[in-house]
Amino acid sequence: MRVLIIGTGYVGLNTGVMLAYLGNEVTCIDVNAEKIKLLQAGIAPFYEPHLEEMFALAKDKISFTDNYEAAQIGEKDVIFIAVGTPSLPDGSANLEYVRQAAESIAEKLSDKFTVVVNKSTVPIGSGNWVGAIIKTHYEKTHGKKANGLFAVVSNPEFLKQGAALHDSLYPDRVVIGSENEHGLDVLRELFGPVLRQDFEAPACLPRPEGLKEVPLLACDLTSAEVIKYAANAFLALKISYINEIARLTAKVGADAQMVAKGIGLDNRIGPRFLNPGIGWGGSCFGKDTAALVATAREYQLEMPIVQAARDVNYGQRSWVVDALQEQLKILKGRRVALLGFSFKPETDDLRDAPSLDIARLLIQRGAIVRAHDPIALDNARRQYPDMGVTYCQEVEDALDEAEAIVLVTEWPYYRTLNWSKIPPVVLVDGRNYLDDKALRALGFTVIGVGR
Ligand SMILES: NC(=O)c1ccc[n+]([C@@H]2O[C@H](COP(=O)([O-])OP(=O)(O)OC[C@H]3O[C@@H](n4cnc5c(N)ncnc54)[C@H](O)[C@@H]3O)[C@@H](O)[C@H]2O)c1
Repeated sequence: MRVLIIGTGYVGLNTGVMLAYLGNEVTCIDVNAEKIKLLQAGIAPFYEPHLEEMFALAKDKISFTDNYEAAQIGEKDVIFIAVGTPSLPDGSANLEYVRQAAESIAEKLSDKFTVVVNKSTVPIGSGNWVGAIIKTHYEKTHGKKANGLFAVVSNPEFLKQGAALHDSLYPDRVVIGSENEHGLDVLRELFGPVLRQDFEAPACLPRPEGLKEVPLLACDLTSAEVIKYAANAFLALKISYINEIARLTAKVGADAQMVAKGIGLDNRIGPRFLNPGIGWGGSCFGKDTAALVATAREYQLEMPIVQAARDVNYGQRSWVVDALQEQLKILKGRRVALLGFSFKPETDDLRDAPSLDIARLLIQRGAIVRAHDPIALDNARRQYPDMGVTYCQEVEDALDEAEAIVLVTEWPYYRTLNWSKIPPVVLVDGRNYLDDKALRALGFTVIGVGR
């Protein structure tokens, strides 16, 4: 099929590369001309495992432009909207980019039927809103009715950054929502190879053993939109739940890791997303839980459980700084090394990264913060040049004369450090990731989460 992807961020580029790999003719458009230049040169604009390899495999089927004239919207079978929907100060989602994308589609629609797919995470009801914008704008610019020319389908994205291409080729499920049966059929066909799992798996991303097919859930548009928010909020709840339990285990002298294991073995609960730690960050959980609470308020509804998950999560960040202060007593003038700056391993994304709040709080209390990250330092220098953190290319520089260390992001690299060569100091293991017994034996004062 002929596919256009609007927005070449983590979701759009990944979706474009995946669909091109499966044999579709894919065009990707972005208003960020610099990104497009890199992509035209075959360079991925951000770090994501296997993206460059998959990009190379799909290169004959994918093209890039920053020009809506050149995007040939009128000839496309399917157009994905995958632009950002960041939070506004009141927690609701900023839909300005979605509006612009919808208007750009409307200006160039032809008489050929096109399926417009909302892949961006948009507030409940936005599918109808996008449909209305396209219809109104088309009728204004073309002077004729838009009836029957397009259908809007919601196709929420569930990928995890750090495993984005894997999750796109081998998802747990595909959800599509629309009142338009024809639109749903087009997407059934587009995702056919993923649903049937009958494509040749790329060598860099082998098919998980035993995966024979992927379930498809076709539903109404609004339910698809709710599914995305409800799924993210549930995962966020799980993380905050174990962190709340970890606060109790720390008080009563139990081990939160053991407790997590013990409850996760219950099939009704499951082990995933039950790792006690600094909590979630990234572009989705914070933004989407805030948007869910904001949407509920529009209906005079409170969501105290989701709100509590948010409160617990952001409290974890100040807990790190309080724990350090309790050990060191005085933070003023102390050198603190942060290991890991990205919001999670295997990505260079800093959106809502816990490191940012931890660094800010430490600096506010007078500490000297030196940070290392295997991948994200370029982004940190570009996006946060003036926050007062010294970004260290080599981990040794970050650790030099450190009086305390905080493991913020569980990059495997930090397990491989020769810890016996590092002077033992207070170490907050914000992810319960390092070998605490070995570190204690070396003389470190290790503070874990809920241990
Ligand atoms: N990142 C994730 O892990 C993830 C997972 C699931 C869902 N989502 C959702 O997917 C959406 C995209 O997220 P992302 O992380 O890829 O965002 P992103 O910020 O990385 O990328 C968005 C891109 O859209 C481009 N853009 C904005 N307006 C445009 C326009 N009018 N025309 C063309 N391009 C335009 C921007 O320049 C940017 O490159 C969001 O709604 C997000 O909530 C993200």
